[in-house]
Amino acid sequence: MIDYRRLRVALLGAGSVGSQVAALLLKHGDELADRAGAALDLVGIVVRDLDAPRDTDLPRELLTTDAESLIVGADIVIELMGGIEPARTLILQALNSGADVVTGNKALLATHGAELFDAADQVGASVYYEAAAAGAIPIIRPLRDSLAGDRVQRIMGIVNGTTNYILDRMDREGAEFADVLADAQALGYAEADPSGDVEGYDAAQKAAILASLAFHTSVPLEAVHREGITDVDQVMMDAARHAGYVIKLLAVCERLTGEFDVSPTGEAISARVYPALVPRDHPLASVHGANNAVFVQAEAAGDLMFYGAGAGGVQTASAVLGDVVSAARRHIAGGVGVGESTRANLPAAPIGHVTTRYQISLDVDDRPGVLATVAGILSEGRVSIATVEQTVLVADAARPQAADDRVGRARIIIGTHTAREQDLSDTVDRLGASGVVRRVVSVLRVEGD
Ligand code: NDP
Ligand code: HSE
Repeated sequence: MIDYRRLRVALLGAGSVGSQVAALLLKHGDELADRAGAALDLVGIVVRDLDAPRDTDLPRELLTTDAESLIVGADIVIELMGGIEPARTLILQALNSGADVVTGNKALLATHGAELFDAADQVGASVYYEAAAAGAIPIIRPLRDSLAGDRVQRIMGIVNGTTNYILDRMDREGAEFADVLADAQALGYAEADPSGDVEGYDAAQKAAILASLAFHTSVPLEAVHREGITDVDQVMMDAARHAGYVIKLLAVCERLTGEFDVSPTGEAISARVYPALVPRDHPLASVHGANNAVFVQAEAAGDLMFYGAGAGGVQTASAVLGDVVSAARRHIAGGVGVGESTRANLPAAPIGHVTTRYQISLDVDDRPGVLATVAGILSEGRVSIATVEQTVLVADAARPQAADDRVGRARIIIGTHTAREQDLSDTVDRLGASGVVRRVVSVLRVEGD
């Protein structure tokens, strides 16, 4: 038995993830000590309610509600409380008292990451956060370390388990959004307030974290364009399926080159979250259930794909404990912290600068000249048509014979070539106001083809 140096580990939070971290730390302590080169003594676990039921049996004597006292003298502080406060203040307190910090708190990192990393730099400590994006999937370390010698061009990821679970069941079973959301909540995938998932906030936080690492730039949450999945319905699912696509909520982080005078290199970055059409033969299309996957394209490495459980207590605990081992090794070795590289300092481009392909679904009057009018508006807007498909929704003969409502209705689904988002959005506005379009049914970006 090696007589390792002993490190004091304080755990803040014993919910879905924290309770599993504590249980594994206690169960595999000897093995972890061999890997870390230090004995990891769990000295206390902070909770709100000492008597709340826990997912695992934890020694009652370790539970406390006094976070400040527990942090004093700790070598490693694991923050798994979630939310902004008191997590932010407690992490700053931990860093300032010389502890290294491990956290899975994407909400905090996406909004106050720069402050925490600066504080860590000041005192030569480190903040580890593998669990903060895509749960159990190792993606933070690959971006921060393994790809540090490369130039990441693009990240396209399914980074929210709840929305992937919902969209997958809508696609495969024809289920309705509201019914599947209730199931996702019952299965524990969704956040306490599921709007964080379905409105894309959770994915946007993860996009800010991934883009910051990939582009060596501090990307604030406000720079991430965000759209959720609450408008996705079976009409959109059918149109996607018919055209050979599946709808996924994607986080896309991209290096843009060209017209960016503000950057000395002529480069900017884009970070965005939205439901998009993904070709059914793309690797991301086969990510089912609550799983996550992150597709990375780098200049030298080419295409890389990271796949696995994006949520779940015990799965996420794996990522947390990997960080604890790293933190312990660093704590023993001493020297400067791992630090964050943000020197590239690239500007974030507004969504209007982004270019992608689109699928536009329109309900129109079914009469002579309508398609020509639609095509003319697209042409004027510099949006080039790649495919067009028309289906008659209501034939002329079936219309009531009121004088103002004698024509039939048709649905036109237009696939575009690559277009600039601003041009596309202006064009869709003009289509809506054209008098021939009864309803813009949906506008979805196409990614990954
Ligand atoms: P939970 O809500 O399940 O657990 C939070 C824990 O923190 C509870 O034990 C709670 O105490 C404690 N806590 C919260 N606020 C306070 C406070 N003010 N004072 C003292 N204790 C407090 O969260 P999760 O375990 O799901 O998530 C933890 C973190 O990990 C979050 O940042 C989350 O975003 C992140 N994460 C979660 C994933 C998941 O799948 N769940 C995946 C990836 C990241 P009590 O039990 O007494 O209420
Ligand atoms: N609610 C989140 C999800 C948990 O569904 O992905 C993991 O961050």
